[in-house]
Amino acid sequence: MGACRIQYVLLLSLLGFCPCSDTLNCQEGSVMKFGQNFSRTSIEWIVNQTVGSEKNKGEMCQEIFLLIDVGEKSLILGTKGITTVPGKRKKTDVFSPGPGIVSASYVHFCDTDLCNNASSTKVLLDLLKLSEYNEPGTTKCPVCLDFKGSCNTESNHTLCPKDTKCYAASLGVHGGDLSAIFSISGCLNSSHTYLLNNQNTIGIISIKETLESNVTLSSQGLLVPSILLTWMFGLLALCLQRSVLC
Ligand SMILES: *[C@@H]1O[C@H](CO)[C@@H](O)[C@H](O)[C@H]1NC(C)=O
Ligand SMILES: *[C@@H]1O[C@H](CO)[C@@H](O)[C@H](O)[C@H]1NC(C)=O
Ligand SMILES: *[C@@H]1O[C@H](CO)[C@@H](O)[C@H](O)[C@H]1NC(C)=O
Ligand SMILES: *[C@@H]1O[C@H](CO)[C@@H](O)[C@H](O)[C@H]1NC(C)=O
Ligand SMILES: *[C@@H]1O[C@H](CO)[C@@H](O)[C@H](O)[C@H]1NC(C)=O
Ligand SMILES: *[C@@H]1O[C@H](CO)[C@@H](O)[C@H](O)[C@H]1NC(C)=O
Repeated sequence: MGACRIQYVLLLSLLGFCPCSDTLNCQEGSVMKFGQNFSRTSIEWIVNQTVGSEKNKGEMCQEIFLLIDVGEKSLILGTKGITTVPGKRKKTDVFSPGPGIVSASYVHFCDTDLCNNASSTKVLLDLLKLSEYNEPGTTKCPVCLDFKGSCNTESNHTLCPKDTKCYAASLGVHGGDLSAIFSISGCLNSSHTYLLNNQNTIGIISIKETLESNVTLSSQGLLVPSILLTWMFGLLALCLQRSVLC
């Protein structure tokens, strides 16, 4: 029986089906980094860890970068590992080249040993041509990029370029060891509604972009909903107090 199996394996290897050599090694890791100017300056990401996968199950190596730059602050998300999502690809998508917020992604699925070996965001930046449009405008918008809940109404404001509008949204990112929700606000091309083209996925990462309703703060618009709410609650408290007193 044992000899039989050995013969069988031998036969398979002679036919070029060696079951033992069908492992695929991939780099594995994830990165989440806030900083400045990530749309202009590449950052290094050296991954030492690798993981083995079974090629014959249709598994491939994958690597992804997602870049968001609101001007004063930027964010890089990266992940590497194995995927079962079919389709070899190497693709850079520039969702928004500016003016205002810049967003772009790099997705690479490949099937040779350690082929997901990008060691910096240069692979993305090389194909990111930033807009040179820079006509000054008159709209002021809050600018923030942080974990959800950390952007408040005292965020910095910026004078947006012409032909852009205020954008504010939360962005949920899940997959490839990444799991976070971010708040993003800034100036966005007025003819765009979404920052990431209303996509559900970027490579193996699922994303959910939820627009915040009408947070436009123009230079003259001053009736901020939260101020209105505080005022209403104050009034309510006053009424309650009075009814208790009387
Ligand atoms: C970011 O890039 C701009 C334009 O290249 C430059 O003026 C600015 O000094 C840079 N900021 C940082 C923190 O590197
Ligand atoms: C990867 O290896 C280099 C040198 O071998 C080391 O400096 C670096 O900290 C390692 N990175 C991680 C994420 O372990
Ligand atoms: C990186 O991957 C490419 C294939 O995508 C391969 O040709 C190259 O040899 C790899 N480099 C290293 C250092 O493994
Ligand atoms: C506001 O902008 C300044 C200068 O660009 C920066 O140092 C500061 O951290 C920003 N504040 C917030 C809350 O983002
Ligand atoms: C805004 O986006 C539209 C469509 O993508 C493009 O034609 C236009 O040039 C962009 N505006 C600016 C100011 O870049
Ligand atoms: C508020 O947002 C809705 C969609 O979310 C849009 O249709 C409407 O025009 C916006 N109103 C203003 C005043 O911007």
